[in-house]
Amino acid sequence: MNPIQRGVFALCMMAAGAAFAVNPVSLTIDAAKPGAVINKDVYGQFAEHLGTGIYEGLWVGPKSKIPNTKGWRNDVVGALKDIHVPLVRWPGGCFADEYHWRDGIGPREKRPVKVNTNWGGVDESNAVGTHEFFDLVDLLGADAYVNGNLGTGSAQEMSEWIEYMTSDSKSTLANLRRKNGRDKPFKVAYFAVGNESWGCGGNMSPQYYSDLYKQTETFLRAPKQYRPKIIASGGNGDDVTWSDVLSKELKKQTYGITFHYYTLPTGNWDTKGASTGFQEKEWISTLSNTLRMDTFIQNNSAAMDKHDPEKKLGLLVDEWGTWYDVEKGTNPGFLFQQNTLRDAVVAALNFNIFHAHADRVRMTNIAQMVNVLQAMIITDKDKMLLTPTYYAFQMYVPFQGATSLPVALKDNPDYSVDSLKVPGVSASAARGTDGKLYLALVNTNPTRETEVAVNVAGQGIKSATGKLLTASAMDTHNTFQAPNAIKPVPFNATAGADGKLTMRLPAKAVVVVAVE
Ligand code: AHR
Repeated sequence: MNPIQRGVFALCMMAAGAAFAVNPVSLTIDAAKPGAVINKDVYGQFAEHLGTGIYEGLWVGPKSKIPNTKGWRNDVVGALKDIHVPLVRWPGGCFADEYHWRDGIGPREKRPVKVNTNWGGVDESNAVGTHEFFDLVDLLGADAYVNGNLGTGSAQEMSEWIEYMTSDSKSTLANLRRKNGRDKPFKVAYFAVGNESWGCGGNMSPQYYSDLYKQTETFLRAPKQYRPKIIASGGNGDDVTWSDVLSKELKKQTYGITFHYYTLPTGNWDTKGASTGFQEKEWISTLSNTLRMDTFIQNNSAAMDKHDPEKKLGLLVDEWGTWYDVEKGTNPGFLFQQNTLRDAVVAALNFNIFHAHADRVRMTNIAQMVNVLQAMIITDKDKMLLTPTYYAFQMYVPFQGATSLPVALKDNPDYSVDSLKVPGVSASAARGTDGKLYLALVNTNPTRETEVAVNVAGQGIKSATGKLLTASAMDTHNTFQAPNAIKPVPFNATAGADGKLTMRLPAKAVVVVAVE
């Protein structure tokens, strides 16, 4: 919002406040009952060799006129550092199951050019390979999540990739890594065996996959201090079979089982819905569909509880986000879509769900980081803009590594359109690593503001200070002509003399505050 829009917005808020009649939603935070720690990796990102997600969006090469460090764009990397990206998953996705790591090492001009058969059939230069990826995570200060190729690869190929990356011996592969410029082993935090093995990763059954996984995992040898946490590729949507079978078969040697769920406004893959210019019925259907994540996590977690009641295995939602019809005039294989206030609300609702399941959900990766699906950043040649989703991630940074706290909402009327309804307010609270109490709130209603009376059990409150993200239209988004059409503004609320704090949330808004 520019200053004029902000002024108009404030006046509208005052006017709306004067007319405010309904009872506030009542919210109680139980700060004396800390729950599970919200793993910082819940705020992970996914970067696939897909469209302009890596090439152009992140990687321009060291000779580019666009300012870069070792080929990675300084502007994009700088913005991503500001949201404390904790880890990056690479190289896919579906791409991972056709990626052969040897294609991406050694002098770049000698690397083979392949066809990216999954994503638009374009040339894949292999300019970004293992060493370049680790440059990126080093620049970001993030952990590396490498996805292995089970579909067209082999246990041998994955085992040799692990040796290449992590061996501190004098083996031929470790020396090859040194010859290619890296003396010390790379720190591979996570390594996954395949991706979507029920679909693009090989159309396997969970039982067949679990046998292959066990065989592969046996040979993923690395020095103890460099051994990645190994991840099994699980199911998606409302199918819990993969979580059931894999948690039974793999619990001894596995960090976690993945789960994918994408939010489509219509729920129909043929006509998913537009990213902008949508009506209120697609606002609510998008929110209603995204909230299914909660049920999916509960169901998968329950399936895993049967075999892993101590919750040793994580449920890792390593692909999630909105998936719309591609923008007209763009390559359909590039999955480029606009990103609006609705996406920020979707992100915040999912964060609140992930926090509520912090005991099982130890990592999630939004799809994807730049220029693809629900992106943080959109680029056009040397320009970049930050999306509303970026700002949602920025506002939620205090939740990384925080300790979740129980939140009870009362008198929280549903927001409804026709037969669809969703809770009017979504909330999450946590004790941050800085000791402060953080509260995140979402008003899902795009036309009505709401009031939330905040109470911290056994404790008085003085104020709430933080950031608010909202805009005039449901599909407000940033463009290269208007890059600041939507961005967070300061938000403050002060308790009355009675020590009660009421927060007024504008329609269609995300608010994150420190409560003192
Ligand atoms: O994120 C795009 C694609 O969606 C990924 O490559 C695949 O794993 C999923 O189907």
